[in-house]
Amino acid sequence: MATTKVLSVVSEIYPLIKTGGLADVAGALPGALAAEDVEMRTLVPGYPAVMAALAEAEKVEKVFRLKDLFGGPAVVLAGRAKGLDLFVLDAPHLFDRPGNPYHDGDGEDWPDNPFRFAALARVGAEIGFGAIKGFRPDVVHTHDWQAGLTPAYLEYDGRPRPGTVATVHNLAFQGQYPKDMLADLRLPPHAWGVDGVEYYDTIGFLKSALRMSDRVTTVSPTYAAEIRSGEGGMGLSGLLAGRAGVVSGILNGIDTDVWDPAKDPLIAGHYDASTPSSRRTNKSALQKRFGIKVDRRAMVFGVVSRLSWQKGLDMVLEGIETILSVGGQLVLLGSGDRELVDGFRHAAAAHPGRVGVMIGYDESLAHQVQAGSDALLVPSRFEPCGLTQLCALRYGAIPIVTRVGGLADTIIDANEMALEAGVGTGVMFTPPHADMFRAAILRAADLYRDGATWRRLMKNAMRTDVSWRRSAARYAKLYRDLVTERNA
Ligand code: ADP
Ligand code: GLC
Repeated sequence: MATTKVLSVVSEIYPLIKTGGLADVAGALPGALAAEDVEMRTLVPGYPAVMAALAEAEKVEKVFRLKDLFGGPAVVLAGRAKGLDLFVLDAPHLFDRPGNPYHDGDGEDWPDNPFRFAALARVGAEIGFGAIKGFRPDVVHTHDWQAGLTPAYLEYDGRPRPGTVATVHNLAFQGQYPKDMLADLRLPPHAWGVDGVEYYDTIGFLKSALRMSDRVTTVSPTYAAEIRSGEGGMGLSGLLAGRAGVVSGILNGIDTDVWDPAKDPLIAGHYDASTPSSRRTNKSALQKRFGIKVDRRAMVFGVVSRLSWQKGLDMVLEGIETILSVGGQLVLLGSGDRELVDGFRHAAAAHPGRVGVMIGYDESLAHQVQAGSDALLVPSRFEPCGLTQLCALRYGAIPIVTRVGGLADTIIDANEMALEAGVGTGVMFTPPHADMFRAAILRAADLYRDGATWRRLMKNAMRTDVSWRRSAARYAKLYRDLVTERNA
C-alpha cells in the first residue's frame, strides 16, 4: 500500500511553541506515524518563535504566496526545523507579535483571533487542494477550534477535496464569533446553517469542524463517550451523539525519548524500572530546589499543571492539611488563574519547609518534579487525555487522579483486587470533590507506608507502555480506512 500523506493543521507545536498538551501531541505525531508509513507534515502559524527556528533550518523554500490574507500579504514557507517537517504561514500582520499564541501580555485574547485562525484554516485548505507541488495530502487532520474552519473552506470551495479528520483536545475551547463576520471570513451565505458553521446564532469554529469533518476523534475513549453526554458535551453533545458512528477516542502517548528517566539530561540522577531506589537523588534535589525540608521519609506530592478550574487544584488547596497530616510535603509547578496562584502562594507561606510553590512555566522543572515526587496529583474535573500522568507513570511518581476522561483510561487503581493481581499503577477517586480527594490522599499514604507495595506500584507504573506505538497504529488505520472509503 502506498504511503498515506497527511497534512496536520495546528496552532502550536513542541518544541517550537507550546501552551499545553496540544503542542506535545502535534510535535510527536509525525515521528510516531512515520513508523506506520504515514507521511505527516504540519502547517503552523509563523509566530516569532517559529520564524526564529526556521531561520536556523538548512533550507527554507517559499512554496506559495497570497496577496491578501485577511488584511495583508502572506507567504507559505517549507522547511525542517528541530526535527519537524513544517509548512509555516508567514503573515506578519497576523502572527508577528510578542506573547502567547492566543493572547497578549495581559492575558487578553488578540481581538483579531477569528481572522488569525481563519487564515491558518484557509491556507490549510489550499494545501489540501494541492497548492504545494510534491505534497498533495490524502487527508487533512485538524486540531481544536483554531484549525476548525479548514473543513468548511474545503467543503464550500467546490473543488475535489481530501479526507478530513478533526481532533478535539479540549471541548471547553470552542472559538465562537459573531455571525456578521461570515462574509469577512470568506464563507458563503449558505455556510450559515445547522449543517455548516452556525452554532447558537454565532459562527462556531470547533462546531463546524465537528459537523463537517469525515471523522472526529478525541484523545481518549472515555472522553469520547463523555462528550456525547449532556454535561461533558458542553453544548455539542447532541451533534456528537448524532455523529457517533464517526466519533472515536484515540489515546495520546508521550515522547519516550524526551521523557526517559534513564537518560534525561534535566534530572539529577538516572534510573529505570529495575533501579527505582536511585530516584532518591532526585527527591532530595527536588526538596532543595523547592526550599522544603530534605527528608527522605516524607511523602512528596507533586503537581505540574495549568492552574485552571478544569484541573481541580482547588481540591489540593482544600486538602493540604490532609497531606501534612500524613507527614507529606507538596511541591507545585504551575501557572494560570490568579485565585489559584494566590492560594498556593499563601499555602507555601503558611507551611514553610513543607509546601514549595513555583509559579511559572519551566520545562526542566517539570521533569524534576516528575523524577523527584513520590506521587503526582491530577484531580481534574474533566481531562480529555492528560499527559502529566503518563509522564508520572514513566518516572515512577504514582498518579493520584480522578476517574474522568483519559485519566480513567490510563491509570489502574490500586484497589484490593488490583493489588492481589499485581497490576495497580495509581490511585483513583470519584467524584471530584475535596472529601474524596482527601480520602485518596489517605489511601495513597497507606500504600506508601507499606514499602513493598509501593515499590510494586512504582515498577508497574514504570513498565507501562506510555509511548505512541498503539495509538499511531490506530491513527494510521483511521486515515487508511477513510481514504479507502472516499475512493470507493
Ligand atoms: P493540558 O494540555 O490540559 O494543559 P496535558 O496534561 O495534556 O494538559 O499537558 C500539559 C503539558 O504541559 C505537559 O507536557 C506538562 O508537562 C506541561 N506543563 C503544564 N504546566 C507546566 C508548567 N508550569 N511548566 C512546565 N510544563 C508544564
Ligand atoms: C488538552 C487537554 C489534555 C490533553 C491535551 C493533548 O489540552 O486538556 O487533556 O492531554 O489537550 O491532547
